[in-house]
Amino acid sequence: MASTQGARSAEVLVASNRGPVSYELRPDGTDGSLHAKRGGGGLVSGLSAIGPDAGALWVCSALSDGDREAVRRGIGEDGVRMLDIPADVHADAYNGIANSVLWFIHHMLYQTPLEPVFDAEFRRQWTSYETYNRAFAEALAEEAAEGAAVVVQDYHLCLVPGMLRELRPDLRIGHFSHTPWAPPDYFRMLPDDIRAQLLRGMLGADRLGFLTSRWADAFTACCTEFAGGLGETQVGVHGLGTDADFLRKRSHEADVDERMAALRTEIGEGRKAIVRVDRTELSKNIVRGLLSYRQLLDDHPEWRERVVHVAFAYPSRQDLVVYREYMAEVQRLTDEINAGYGTPGWTPVLLHLKDDFARSLAAYRLADVALVNPIRDGMNLVAKEVPLVSDEGCVLVLSREAGAFEELGEDAIAVNPYDVIGTAKALHEALTMPAGERAERAKRLNAAATALPPAQWFLEQLDALRRLG
Ligand code: F6P
Repeated sequence: MASTQGARSAEVLVASNRGPVSYELRPDGTDGSLHAKRGGGGLVSGLSAIGPDAGALWVCSALSDGDREAVRRGIGEDGVRMLDIPADVHADAYNGIANSVLWFIHHMLYQTPLEPVFDAEFRRQWTSYETYNRAFAEALAEEAAEGAAVVVQDYHLCLVPGMLRELRPDLRIGHFSHTPWAPPDYFRMLPDDIRAQLLRGMLGADRLGFLTSRWADAFTACCTEFAGGLGETQVGVHGLGTDADFLRKRSHEADVDERMAALRTEIGEGRKAIVRVDRTELSKNIVRGLLSYRQLLDDHPEWRERVVHVAFAYPSRQDLVVYREYMAEVQRLTDEINAGYGTPGWTPVLLHLKDDFARSLAAYRLADVALVNPIRDGMNLVAKEVPLVSDEGCVLVLSREAGAFEELGEDAIAVNPYDVIGTAKALHEALTMPAGERAERAKRLNAAATALPPAQWFLEQLDALRRLG
């Protein structure tokens, strides 16, 4: 992998806010030691698929004090360049603009009577977003070999393609969105100059990738309405799938077996399990999921003591007050349901908040029903993972607003995420689906879920970029 900084030697570059590794500062002794933790996900598999000699470099931001200390001490992974962006600039760009404005716009989640408010504070944070994007563009320009391919990730880095194009016109620049894209009527909410700047930034790329045609079409419609069209930029759809080999193998390792046994005891022998696993983002609709489950227990009392809702809601973006409040509401409603419906031998909702991948896989294996009901979601890989890993081939209850619905909708039970009564009916239908139908559907769901594994998903984009000449 390319490791020398500023040597213009990298042939394939990935840029994302969050990188493949993070560092934790452990207070042992005067200086403290740094502990490296490696992450997973589509990009990690994608980059490993191009092999160690491909000259790949991942440019990411230092996110924590540990990361910043690692950069300062010159500690790093081969093939990774972490940018030491000042913590206040990063906080404004990441929490202030990316997570509190752009993410909300694309997920259409503002409570519009009161928000958004584009005031002086917003303008101040926007300047940080520009600075942060410029730091990435400059690092990529320093590192990329002549004619190299660069794939920029997500709404954090919308300005990078345009900035990089100015610095290095020779590069092939791609950008991939892991979120939905807002339709013009919602995107219009942004101040005119900011809207124009965002689209100009994106259109600096040769090629833009989206997870589904719905999001790609929304982007194209925004360009038609606000930017006079796409210009030279191509738009493509790459529906990220699951890594079946990895998941099947990993979900049968000893730590998963242990957690399965523990979970089975918590659930109770012979009971069915409705499973959901989310990073607790505001779009995931965990609260309405709980309300739907309570509705099921009201509409079909025969399920009481015979089913458990296993809900793993892992913390995400806890710097934002609304995320903390949302987690608290998930906990409050869980307690209310358990207090109101539980019996000495039966806890209706099993809620776990601490991230534990092995336990997630254990829950996948035990699932009779997977509940994936987001308000709006770029793809939602959990929808693809649970049916694949579940021992008995679970039934998928899936929101029509998840990107995954484009590929899985026909074999899932579709729900309107706002309709709690409709979702309760869907849960009942899922719990009572005859075994033969369930198996048939699971087979087709698995074929769709594994159609484009992460490595191929990445290579497909790289090939398309290189073919542009
Ligand atoms: O909500 C999904 C998503 O926004 C992805 O588009 C993105 O890659 C990821 O979450 C970023 O998460 P985090 O804020 O934890 O880095």
